[in-house]
Order: sequence, then C-alpha cells, then structure tokens
Amino acid sequence: MKDIYTLGIESSCDETSVAVVKNGREILSNIIDTQIPIHEKYGGVVPEIASRNHIEAISRVTKKAIEEAKISLEEIDAITPTYGPGLVGALLVGLSYAKALSFAINKPLVGVNHIQGHISANYITYKDLKPPFICMMMSGGNTQIIHVKDYTEFEILGKTRDDAIGEAFDKVARVVGLGYPGGPKVDKLAKEGSANIKLPKTHFENMDFSFSGIKTAVINLHHKNPEVNKADLCASFEKTVTEILIENIEKAIKLTGIKTIVLAGGVSANSYIRKKFMDLEKENIKIYMPDLKLCTDNAAMIASAGYYNYINGKRDNMNLNAIPNLKL
Ligand code: KG4
Repeated sequence: MKDIYTLGIESSCDETSVAVVKNGREILSNIIDTQIPIHEKYGGVVPEIASRNHIEAISRVTKKAIEEAKISLEEIDAITPTYGPGLVGALLVGLSYAKALSFAINKPLVGVNHIQGHISANYITYKDLKPPFICMMMSGGNTQIIHVKDYTEFEILGKTRDDAIGEAFDKVARVVGLGYPGGPKVDKLAKEGSANIKLPKTHFENMDFSFSGIKTAVINLHHKNPEVNKADLCASFEKTVTEILIENIEKAIKLTGIKTIVLAGGVSANSYIRKKFMDLEKENIKIYMPDLKLCTDNAAMIASAGYYNYINGKRDNMNLNAIPNLKL
C-alpha cells in the first residue's frame, strides 16, 4: 500500500506548529514555535497577541517542517489544519495558511478537530493502539471522558460543567504566585509538599466534572491563610482532582466494559496524574499516555488525526471556517 503523508498545521492557542507524519503514526518532523515567553508576562494567553505571532511564525515553521522531513511538497497527500476548538483569530491564521497551501499545491484540505488531535498523540506513541477505548481528555480548554469507538467516531460520556482541569491548574498557580503556565509549576512544587489539606469534591450522578468549587476553595484558603504551605496546597489540589478523574473513569469502565484507558491533553503531562493512572494497571486496566512532548499542543498529533480523517474520505473545501467551540 502507498505511504500517506499528512502535513499538520496547529495554531489554536499559543503554539505555532507544523509537522509531517507518515501513515498517521510516524513523525518525520514536528516543529513547535511556542509563544509561552511572550504571554508569561501577562499571566495568560492574550488572544490578539497570539494571532499576530502566529502570522509571523507560520511560514518559517512550515518551511522548517518540510525541510526537516526531507520531503517535497508534491509528496504530501493532504494538508490537515486544526479548525477548532480554540481562539478564533489564532485558528484563522493556521487555517488560512493551510487553504492557501492546499490551493497552491493542489492537494486536499482536511480539517482536524483539536481534541481528536490530542487523542491521536497516542497513536504516535503506541504503534499498536487501536480503538475502541476510553479517553480521559484533559487540557487547558477541555475536560471530557470520550468513548473512542473508532478513529473518527466518538461519544462524549462526561464533560466539565464549568472550568477545564488545565484552567483550574493555571488559576491555582496564579493565585499562589507561581505564574503561567501554571500546570507544570504546580506539578513541580507539589512534589515538595504533602497532600494534608482537605479540599471539596463535586460529584454528579453521571460522568460530568466540576472544578470551580475546588479552585475557589484553594483561592479562599490562600487568601484567608497566606501562611498555608504552598507546596502542601498544590499537592492537596493535585491529589483531589486526580481522585475526581479516577472516580469518573471507573464509572466509564463500569458502563462500557472497556478496560483500555488513554490519557490525552496538556494535563496528561502531570507526573502525579500519570502515576495514579498507572496504578490502575494493578486492577487489570490497560493505561496508555502520550510521550511527554506530545501531551501539549503540537502539529504531529494533528497530522495523525488528519491521516485518519483523510483515509476515511473527509475532504473540506475553501469555505472551511474556524469554529472556536467545535465539538467532537
Ligand atoms: O493541551 P494543551 O497544551 O492546550 C490545550 O489544548 O488546551 O494544555 C495546556 C494545559 C495548561 O492548562 C497547562 O497548565 C496544562 O495543560 N499542563 C499541565 C502540565 N503541563 C501542562 N498541567 C498539570 N501538570 C503538568 N505537568
């Protein structure tokens, strides 16, 4: 069978990334130009600044991705940009660039949902991983339990009713003075603390999540008692949110009978969460998690998802628009 090469383009938030992936599983290049140092001083991503920086970076990053993959544009089978969810101005940069490239080299345009991309990071990490499985999707903008029935077929079993888990990590970090992006900083500091502070958990009958209560509890505790040990607070926050994740995943296993759990999204880089999920393997549950460098936003995962969309016959035309709240 002929090899298929997809060119992924990712610009949904603060990373401009372009990648070439072979047959959905093998990275030939994955260039990531992060804007974190630019947004750090504002304590979070400033959408307008993100769009402007994508514009400056996109052409250079694409050129580098093609050079590093040692491939010619004629050999690319499809251009696969993220078209949502994400920041609209940021998405439009990558999407418009992808359209222009698709038109210029006369190759199909195949849009990718960013969440599908995060799930697909696992297909690159594990060459043998195949659906069906349950995905615990945890990123800066999303927290969902997804029944991945096939490469392009999904059912949402549970979702957050307020903050995404990454958002809660980032808020907690900001309040205790760790800065942006908070997740990795909470992860690091929590290792020095002990999880000895009781924090509230919100439960629902179904598999939905709520992280605003615990986030507010941490904020109030810190403001009322500034002397509370920050490392203990981070460790307690991490432990409590992990318990919430695992309680809901256990419900999903019970409902579906599927014992293959796949982590995805930026928060799946968290060392405590990774360890606690790995512990589930003792209960005969198989756990998969992306390579650390593929957890956060990158175009290789988008090119992988783009491959599965392409071989399933998905084709988009020049009307494809950026959809900030695109659903799976
Ligand atoms: O998936 P991602 O790169 O962007 C979205 O698609 O949203 O996720 C970014 C989120 C941020 O909230 C960041 O703080 C969090 O992932 N994150 C972490 C860690 N690394 C990144 N959260 C907890 N622990 C980490 N080690």
